[in-house]
Amino acid sequence: MAPFATSLDVRADFPLFDRGLAYLDSAATSQKPREVIEAMDSYYRCSNANVHRGVYKLAQEATDLFEGARERVARFAGSEAATTIFTRNATEAINLVAYAWGREHVGEGDEVLITQMEHHSNIVPWQMLCSERGARLRYLHVSDEGLLSLEELDEVLAEGRVKLVSVVHVSNVLGTVNPVAEIAARARAAGAVSVIDGSQAMPQMAVDVAEIGADFYAWTGHKALGPTGIGVLHGRRELLESMRPFLGGGDMIASVGFDSSTYNELPWKFEAGTSAIAEGVGLGAAIDYLDRIGMDTVRAHERDLTHYTLERLGEIDGLRTFGPGDLDVRGGVVSFEVDGIHPHDLAELCDREGVCIRAGHHCAQPLMRELGVPATARASFHVYNNHEDVDRLAEALKGAREVFGL
Ligand SMILES: Cc1ncc(COP(=O)(O)O)c(C=O)c1O
Repeated sequence: MAPFATSLDVRADFPLFDRGLAYLDSAATSQKPREVIEAMDSYYRCSNANVHRGVYKLAQEATDLFEGARERVARFAGSEAATTIFTRNATEAINLVAYAWGREHVGEGDEVLITQMEHHSNIVPWQMLCSERGARLRYLHVSDEGLLSLEELDEVLAEGRVKLVSVVHVSNVLGTVNPVAEIAARARAAGAVSVIDGSQAMPQMAVDVAEIGADFYAWTGHKALGPTGIGVLHGRRELLESMRPFLGGGDMIASVGFDSSTYNELPWKFEAGTSAIAEGVGLGAAIDYLDRIGMDTVRAHERDLTHYTLERLGEIDGLRTFGPGDLDVRGGVVSFEVDGIHPHDLAELCDREGVCIRAGHHCAQPLMRELGVPATARASFHVYNNHEDVDRLAEALKGAREVFGL
């Protein structure tokens, strides 16, 4: 697919842009369209009640809004409502798997396999699991072009000790789109369970969880135009049914005795306590919005912006970008460094021009170590960005070089 400019022009749907900013930090969190804000506002104004419990009409209405959102989110992701669990964010979704599946199935001498390009939320839960259970955490390498090697995956799996493989779908630093269906299939053939961190993928491309075939797929609402406080875990039904709950409390039970309890059906078995109801409703609205644009259009738009950004940043002396050059395996994230200027200084000088970019380790310290840098600057996109934002970034970076006398 060649990069091409799309006619997507939806900035007016996002109230924040009244501030005139060039917001280029959607990999950290996306801006929210008016209809997400309004859906949450309307829920609190007109339909607020606790869900699953009340017999009165208002409670039923709140439940319908919340569960209706779950159904649409499930359909959007190619999954089903019963196996679509609402969590607080992707981090909690991955921890759910590490606790509820990992602590039952990973033991002394076993291995958990992740990659060097993971976000901390797909590293630390496995470090904690492995140190508690006497297991070993291993990492697949990232090549100079920012890619994983399926041959290395095969070699590690062939040793026969890997119980679980967890891989990011789209890297938040390199933008790499990993071949997750291949990885899940190979893990499965080797008798390992697979987890995919789809935090950066679900917001920007069509994702069909069933087609990918992983055992678990985690993502987070706030990067997909939805609110903070809501994430999603899609799981394979047999596994979810056989797992014990993650957290105990109200809503996740069928009955409670003095000594023991029985647990609710899926998905509520994994949703202890009062849910993030307004956030669920907001995520439903975000998904409706994305669905209307069409995820192929979203992907084409991000691809065009990535291409244009690589082109414009290529004009700047002393600037180096990270990640694959092939746009077929690259999402809407461009990490870079400029010789002689610390990324934090770059971000601050950009901010003076109303250009919001990220600087730091992007919650991927092991990857930074592997890339041989303490930090990078990063521009990332969503549907509301356009070429003018990228032009503003390029001008701000040129100005930053002048400030430093470069
Ligand atoms: C690839 C990736 N995984 C996981 C996360 C964690 O998301 P959250 O903080 O919403 O749990 C992020 C957020 O930056 C991310 O980019």
